[in-house]
Amino acid sequence: MALVPMRQILDEAAKGGYGVGAFNVNNMEQIQAIMQAANDTHSPVIIQASRGALKYSKMIYLKKLMEAAAEEFPHIPVAMHLDHGNSLETCKEAIALGFTSVMMDGSLSEDGKTPNSYEQNVAVTRSVVEFAHPLGVTVEGELGCLGGIEDGHGAGLTDAEVQDHLTDPAKAEDFVAQTGLDALAVAIGTSHGAYKSGRKDPVTGEMLPPELAMERIHEIHDRMPNCHMVMHGSSSVPRELVDIINQYGGNMPDTFGIPIEQIQDGIKHGVRKINVDTDSRLAMTGAIRKVLIETPAKFDPRDYLKPAREAAYEVYVARMKAFGQAGHATDYEPMTLEDLKALYRK
Ligand code: G3H
Ligand code: 13P
Ligand code: ZN
Repeated sequence: MALVPMRQILDEAAKGGYGVGAFNVNNMEQIQAIMQAANDTHSPVIIQASRGALKYSKMIYLKKLMEAAAEEFPHIPVAMHLDHGNSLETCKEAIALGFTSVMMDGSLSEDGKTPNSYEQNVAVTRSVVEFAHPLGVTVEGELGCLGGIEDGHGAGLTDAEVQDHLTDPAKAEDFVAQTGLDALAVAIGTSHGAYKSGRKDPVTGEMLPPELAMERIHEIHDRMPNCHMVMHGSSSVPRELVDIINQYGGNMPDTFGIPIEQIQDGIKHGVRKINVDTDSRLAMTGAIRKVLIETPAKFDPRDYLKPAREAAYEVYVARMKAFGQAGHATDYEPMTLEDLKALYRK
């Protein structure tokens, strides 16, 4: 199967009432682990590359690896998506390379840090839709800003400022109408990376995961039942993965992720794409540390990259089952970008 347009994967997920994990990749091991997990759970899947990933691996290598993935598993619908594109130019480059979907993150300006005005966001997102749709390529946009900055994406907002940058459901309706995008990333209090802001239980003093503004997702879904929403910053940061890292010489402070049940609640209310990067990074790092500490004489990269790939695989399998995409790989006939061109013309 050739790579499919992400729009089809999301439309089918909406019909089936499930969510689809969009997993970030930088190398062959991650791509192989995702595809093996998709094959073993019969899942459609979205593989995405950030600008940082494309720089690290050089665009052409990731493109060829993703094409290899689609060729090795022809029965798995797989979309190749640009994560956090920062300009029309970046999106054009990804499309020229063969990506079947792009994110234009117009919530931030081209530096990837400074929040854009609403009008700037509408203008740049619409310009990408106008370029991409005639080519059959899917477009994700974002309204509102995520917290956190440690991975280089985000406005570095404080917990209090994040509250002012959550997605406004009324504006979301206008944003979708004005831009014509296919998928809307919403800001509900998640942040990228392993250090998501937690909160103190007022009674016990215990640290708890961040409180998400799920009611905004509910309201957007009520207003626009056909809008595909995207949750960024959705790693669950499992304690056992952090513990393995620390057990083998790491030094990660106590941290929190997004509970799977909250993501599942989102999926019941229109979330169709769930972005996960950090969890596979944690799994791979823990596995590599374990090998290097337990068997310090080893020096063949395969000795630690293979366990790293297996650890990432376990994360992907668990997420595919939890998000509900498992079992849906062969529900539908894959579409091509040509098919989508015709749909967008209507
Ligand atoms: O959006 C954030 C993703 O985790 C990608 O991060 O820019 O370090 O590749 P990255
Ligand atoms: P995490 O850092 O929570 O995995 O989020 C990844 C993401 O949103 C990529 O766009
Ligand atoms: Zn993101």
